[in-house]
Amino acid sequence: MRNIDQHSITAAVVDSFDGCDSPRLKQLMTSLVTHLHDFAREVKLTEAEWAQGIAFLTATGQKCDDKRQEFILLSDVLGLSMLTVAMNNDKPAGCTEATVFGPFFVEGAPHYAHGDDVANGAAGEPCEVRGTVRGLRGEPIADAVIDVWQADAGGHYDVQHAGLDHAQGRGVLRSGPDGGFHFRTIVAEAYPIPTDGPVGVLLEATGRHPWRPAHLHFKIEAAGYEPLITHVFRDGDTWLDSDAVFGVRQSLVAEWAAQADGTHRLDFGFVLNPARR
Ligand code: BEZ
Ligand code: FE
Repeated sequence: MRNIDQHSITAAVVDSFDGCDSPRLKQLMTSLVTHLHDFAREVKLTEAEWAQGIAFLTATGQKCDDKRQEFILLSDVLGLSMLTVAMNNDKPAGCTEATVFGPFFVEGAPHYAHGDDVANGAAGEPCEVRGTVRGLRGEPIADAVIDVWQADAGGHYDVQHAGLDHAQGRGVLRSGPDGGFHFRTIVAEAYPIPTDGPVGVLLEATGRHPWRPAHLHFKIEAAGYEPLITHVFRDGDTWLDSDAVFGVRQSLVAEWAAQADGTHRLDFGFVLNPARR
């Protein structure tokens, strides 16, 4: 294998995977290299540009720690997270659609009873959330484990508040025998994704804004059903049609209805897909 040139190099690299024991890894690497090479050829990538690309990826890695995952953020703003979610969650009509997980989920959030205040001191306008968890035939799903998490009035998750030592705006509930659950919280507000790293530089350089429309995150798990990771978006939000991470589905937009007493109320029915055997 000598004198490889710009025309023969793709085949040479693809051939180098011949000894790969895993057919799937071989397929992934073959396709990745082919597309990467095609990209470089199509744009006639210069050495200076690729050096800049390497510097960007290096900075992205260096921004990561146990609280910050800049590569996930990069995948989110490039639409790769949502593409992967969409391809892998093609559920039957009637099921609640999935959307991006995001970086602010925390395992082991506090457990709450129905009617409790999940805000737990987070700033914002009071809001009551009532939900149901059902199957495709309308059957109530009891004992589903429901994780909920959200940003506060300032557009920050609890984990973004330095020094805060307890959960705010996040918790775990279980659905009752009728599939229902309810809790008090604060109204979720729109927020910009973190821009103090290379992804922020990329958004700025490409003339994009960092905003996500207001939403409440849900992760719902129940025996016999596929897990659901989704949001409910707040109808009327400015950013619904230009979400920085491309996560909005019309079926997930709901009204946070203003009540006579100045509070808000959200009602939402979740429908889970039966587990595939
Ligand atoms: C979120 O909704 O929490 C989120 C999703 C993607 C990137 C940043 C935040
Ligand atoms: Fe979020």
